[in-house]
Amino acid sequence: MKGRLEGRVAIVTGGGHGIGKAYATRLASEGAKIVIAELDEKAAHAVAQELNAAGYEALAVRTDVSDPASVEKMAAAAIERFGRIDVLVNNAAIFATVPMSRSPFDQITINEWDQMMNVNVKGTWLASRAVIPQMRKQ
Ligand SMILES: NC(=O)c1ccc[n+]([C@@H]2O[C@H](COP(=O)([O-])OP(=O)(O)OC[C@H]3O[C@@H](n4cnc5c(N)ncnc54)[C@H](O)[C@@H]3O)[C@@H](O)[C@H]2O)c1
Repeated sequence: MKGRLEGRVAIVTGGGHGIGKAYATRLASEGAKIVIAELDEKAAHAVAQELNAAGYEALAVRTDVSDPASVEKMAAAAIERFGRIDVLVNNAAIFATVPMSRSPFDQITINEWDQMMNVNVKGTWLASRAVIPQMRKQ
């Protein structure tokens, strides 16, 4: 039986660890071609290699979702390799692998607040903004 995502291309930000890796693996098992868009380049390659070895198609792209130029490159790499973009999982975050301090709200430093907003909030918008032109074309 064919997977529900046969012929589709899915980008998973932060797909090198944790829940992102699980999203990538499950989407691949449903037939999607996967782009692991991850700050930790080594982890991105390891997950992509694991998926490719299992018979799926995956590409690792070192991506910083808080950097507009980096997410543009992510989208371009997906299109260059797979020709389309159907799914974006905005999973990357400052959370465990790039840890948040989990301080009480009045003790979070201004710098940590700014970093978290840049990755967890603005990064979601930037990554969405980078893929939407291709999605609209499709
Ligand atoms: N684990 C939980 O209990 C839980 C609960 C609620 C929400 N979440 C959310 O689920 C998502 C995944 O959580 P997780 O537990 O797998 O965390 P995790 O820290 O293991 O995974 C996050 C991934 O994002 C990557 N990343 C960090 N900054 C990045 C950046 N600037 N650009 C690209 N990639 C970057 C990290 O390298 C890591 O691979 C996060 O958005 C988190 O906020 C997790």
